Amino acid sequence: QNEIYRKGMFEQQLPIVTTNPNNLEDQAKSILKPTAFNYVAGGAGERATMDANRLAFRQWKMVPRMLRPTTHRDLCVTLFGEKYDSPVLMAPVGVQQIFHEDKETGLSEVCSEIGVPYILSTASSSSIEEVAKSNGNGPRWFQLYWPQSDDITISLLKRAQASGYKVLVVTLDTWALAWRPADLDGGYVPFAKGIGNATGFTDPVFRQKFREKFNTTPEERVLQASNEWVGNIFSGAAHSWEQIALLKKNWEGPIVLKGIQHPEDAKLAVEAGVDGIICSNHGGRQLDGAVGSLEMLPEIVDAVGDKLTVLFDSGIRTGVDIIKALSLGAKAVLIGRPAIYGLAIGGKQGAKQVLQGILADLDQSMGLAGIANIADCNRSMIRRVQYGG
Ligand code: FNR
Repeated sequence: QNEIYRKGMFEQQLPIVTTNPNNLEDQAKSILKPTAFNYVAGGAGERATMDANRLAFRQWKMVPRMLRPTTHRDLCVTLFGEKYDSPVLMAPVGVQQIFHEDKETGLSEVCSEIGVPYILSTASSSSIEEVAKSNGNGPRWFQLYWPQSDDITISLLKRAQASGYKVLVVTLDTWALAWRPADLDGGYVPFAKGIGNATGFTDPVFRQKFREKFNTTPEERVLQASNEWVGNIFSGAAHSWEQIALLKKNWEGPIVLKGIQHPEDAKLAVEAGVDGIICSNHGGRQLDGAVGSLEMLPEIVDAVGDKLTVLFDSGIRTGVDIIKALSLGAKAVLIGRPAIYGLAIGGKQGAKQVLQGILADLDQSMGLAGIANIADCNRSMIRRVQYGG
């Protein structure tokens, strides 16, 4: 933060990406093609759940403490026995090439530079192996859109494991794509062009199945291959709790279920023996009319106790938002759109600036609230209010 002030005041060097979280979207809009902008900024239905995600944050207010030893703050967290420098993780976001040519390889590179764990989406425009290379020694997790074919699922898990992805994030809320009017009106261009298929098209088992069926390679028939790949990962047929066993059998390491909103599902996750859950509604992109994600966090945390690790996403825009989620019991949070707006505006450096800005805002806000480290975020620091706004 001091660095931004110093550069601006004394060197007339302004940030390439706005530091105002509410203006990021407008800045990205002025740069992106409408189809790409609508894809990232949009939500399901009439965006009621996107709105609810923000309103849910407004219902909680900080209650700051004074005269505490908070000059030096510690943002480190330990998740699944591993220490991370940042309580903010880069959420899995597909088709990053439509936002900037730096795409997943660039974003995972800068995440590594600033210690933000990078979660690679199955619907990526760079492959599992390319991202492992660009992310280098940085922490990386792999997000699974769970294919219908068990053979392909196992192949993806093997590749991710071999490429050093430490945690498997299984997204449960997107077995079918939602009713997203802006994308429906725009023809779902990202997927139609096969841009989010790098991980699929490079998969040996997917390739073999495709060759057997069509007697050609995915590259020679991109449209057909996209249809096969997207049909596999967004098949319209949900898996079952029993099938988690297949993932456990084929993944050595922590498994986290993403998209949990109901406390009863959180309990089922404990029964299924997974290591963590992400309280998330996919940033309001799936079931429109669903509650704001933060609304469910306390009940979910209470439902599972210390039996598994609860993470949170959907709607985080500021440092104080992060403190609120951590105070309600999340152990870390994921951020989606803001970082992608940064990527669109200024490539990987833009995304880096957004993520660093959010971490700086978090650091400063913790200090002002009288919180020295992440573990000290607790329910005594926040209060639910009625007056809205
Ligand atoms: C997503 N999200 C997502 N989630 C996932 O599990 N796999 C994916 O491929 C994607 N793709 C994706 C694309 C775009 C453009 C967006 C905006 C989001 C959801 C993402 O991981 C996260 O849950 C939300 O973005 C969190 O909400 P905020 O931070 O965007 O409000």
